[in-house]
Amino acid sequence: MIELKEFKFGPRKFLDVRRQELAGLRFERIRPRPLSPTLGAEIEGVDLTRPLDDTTFAEVERAFLAFKVIFFRDQALTVEQHLDFARRFGELEDHPFLPAKDGHAEVIRFAKDEEVAGVENMWHSDVSWREIPSLGSVLRAVEVPAVGGDTLWADMEAAWEGLPHADKERLEGLVAVHDFTHSFGLGMDREKRAEMQAKFPPARHPVVRTHPVTGRRSLYVNPIFTSHVEGLEREESLELLRALCRQAQVPEYQCRFRWQPDSVALWDNRCTQHYATSDYWPQARVMERVTVIGDRPY
Ligand code: SIN
Repeated sequence: MIELKEFKFGPRKFLDVRRQELAGLRFERIRPRPLSPTLGAEIEGVDLTRPLDDTTFAEVERAFLAFKVIFFRDQALTVEQHLDFARRFGELEDHPFLPAKDGHAEVIRFAKDEEVAGVENMWHSDVSWREIPSLGSVLRAVEVPAVGGDTLWADMEAAWEGLPHADKERLEGLVAVHDFTHSFGLGMDREKRAEMQAKFPPARHPVVRTHPVTGRRSLYVNPIFTSHVEGLEREESLELLRALCRQAQVPEYQCRFRWQPDSVALWDNRCTQHYATSDYWPQARVMERVTVIGDRPY
């Protein structure tokens, strides 16, 4: 069983070092306003409705890697502008399970109202069930409730750093299996599920992954898509996953964003998880997400 005695004190050193590193960053074109010590910043000085010149884009990318999730206000993006911005980070994916915006396979539309309640209120990293999961996602708010519907992000590097040394040693080399069956698969009949399982078989990813750009390590298991840890008995695997998934719930590792229409978030799925609060029913909340393909976790 994982020992969490030391954990309650949190990774104070890590938070302090990262806070100082982030405070030391200098930008010419953009103005980041941090939302928490290690995670999240609102970015001022950028107009995403116009193509970003290379210098400004390089600063946005640097802020994205540093703050892990960045936010832009008042960006009345067309679908094409939304797609163009996301494409600067890589190739885009079509989601095989979530509804797409009419005529735009790469744009997921989360449209919630009295008839359809929000179900994104579980911590996750997007499409971790894919063999090649996501680099990042760009989410735009189309319609938001007057109050509620905030999204939270968790810094999974801080979550890793917060674990006691002995637990970290134990996690080295462990592989977890990620599978869509217990989430998107639930509403499918047996035949459809089998067809989709053939297309998207369970994916094996390290429990602790290394960021391909920053080299930092983070916990990479989540309660929606991670089914088990390979090589462990069922109970041991469940207990370990429960303990690790709880790390995303620690407030010291989180930031929370309050949406307005035309707010845009860009987050790094390789080192964060997110949770959309479902506290606004029966009001409407409409969001559009474009997802950038990443690379194989290691
Ligand atoms: C998502 O899980 O990608 C959606 C997040 C949100 O609607 O805030």
